[in-house]
Amino acid sequence: MYDFKIAAADKAAMYRDLASALEGLVAGEPDAIANMANAAGLIWETLPDLNWAGFYRNVGGELVLGPFQGRPACIRIPFGTGVCGAAAATLKVQRVDDVHAFDGHITCDAASVSELVVPIVRDGKLIAVLDLDSPTAARFDADDEAGCVAFGTILARVL
Ligand code: SME
Repeated sequence: MYDFKIAAADKAAMYRDLASALEGLVAGEPDAIANMANAAGLIWETLPDLNWAGFYRNVGGELVLGPFQGRPACIRIPFGTGVCGAAAATLKVQRVDDVHAFDGHITCDAASVSELVVPIVRDGKLIAVLDLDSPTAARFDADDEAGCVAFGTILARVL
């Protein structure tokens, strides 16, 4: 078991430590599922106030559930549907303060209130999305977005 104990004083430092832990976990490992599984575990153990953290993979133009932590979730999401589907269709980060106000939001876990979805893109093509859900409204700020984008950039090389 890896034990990273990330407890940095501020959020930027915490995300730097998270990125460096991820770099260590994926170094030399080419298996995408293994890397997504460890990435989901690392986020789940490190970031407070989440009720779901994981991946949907681009499988033939449809999002299909990948490794995650949290309650069992919906398996397939069409591009353009819900928060994850919006990120997949636009290749743009979706940071949603209140998912109930997001047109087409897919309720997988009724506890989810805010959501951050980061598209993971390599050579202009979507590989997967990283999806974080929180039971707290507006849980994710610009620093969380920047930290998770950096996290996704590392993963893009190894998925
Ligand atoms: N709420 C997401 C679906 C995935 S679950 O939150 C794990 C959405 O609207 O895309």
